[in-house]
Amino acid sequence: MPQPDNKLRIPETLRNVKSIIGIFSAKGGVGKSAISLQLALALKDKGLKIGLVDADIYGPSQPVMLNSSPGELKLTKNEIIEPLTKEGIKFISMGLISGEKMPVIWRGPMVSGAVMQLLSQTEWGELDYLIVDTPPGTGDVQLTLLQRIPLTSAVVVTTPQKVSVSDCKKGIEMINKLDVPISGLIENMSWFQPDSMEKKYYLFGKDGGKELAKEYSLELLAQLPLVELDEDSDLQNHELLKKEFDKISTKLMDSVKNLKDKRSGGIPQINITK
Ligand SMILES: Nc1ncnc2c1ncn2[C@@H]1O[C@H](COP(=O)(O)OP(=O)(O)OP(=O)(O)O)[C@@H](O)[C@H]1O
Ligand SMILES: [Mg+2]
Repeated sequence: MPQPDNKLRIPETLRNVKSIIGIFSAKGGVGKSAISLQLALALKDKGLKIGLVDADIYGPSQPVMLNSSPGELKLTKNEIIEPLTKEGIKFISMGLISGEKMPVIWRGPMVSGAVMQLLSQTEWGELDYLIVDTPPGTGDVQLTLLQRIPLTSAVVVTTPQKVSVSDCKKGIEMINKLDVPISGLIENMSWFQPDSMEKKYYLFGKDGGKELAKEYSLELLAQLPLVELDEDSDLQNHELLKKEFDKISTKLMDSVKNLKDKRSGGIPQINITK
């Protein structure tokens, strides 16, 4: 169960979700959505039960990446939404809910209210991990997610670029202030390396995310290259990135295990030998 000491009422639909991970970055366009999906798929490949929620009301991108449309969504009893299953993961997005089709879901006048409704009105069932892809910024939605969803931990994403790093600092400060642990930082779009070349091109500067991780004592989960995609290929099927996400998902699982061990008492076990 996420954060057993959480004083808030955990929505009924999230009660059988073991860990909830929020993917945050105050900066837009740094790869949060791509990373959320690749992480979800890598965890699924390890045999775990995974859900993915796209909490971006203004620019939801998961439905496109997962090739899904609003018509596929079903409401079950008591206004509860049945998540879609795509590529072996349970999935729901703000982009799948259109006002005319499901007005019942849109009672909340505020966006953050709608995000909460989406999370708590979806029948997640039993999950090992629920990955929450968040919108850019440090506003109401992020605040609501950090305060009202029992997040196990956050993962922060930045590019090495100065503007991204400086926005990302605001995000880290916000997460720290709200006492949500951070499992680590991913530096994305770190360099570009043409197939046939030794040389790496640091298009957005070098090691900006690495240094940020050091400054805040966060684990650097990875530095990921900017990769070239042709028309028919997806980021999530890119061989090099798949290998990277296999490692990132292991590191995340270790971090979550450590956090849970720490929370559940912390009495050290000692072996007494004669
Ligand atoms: N490592 C990468 N190599 C190549 N393209 C990438 C990489 N990471 C992300 N992209 C591409 O960059 C664009 C932005 O990524 P994405 O939508 O995941 O960012 P985001 O942080 O979720 O953006 P927003 O803040 O708008 O939600 C997308 O087209 C995505 O496919
Ligand atoms: Mg996004």
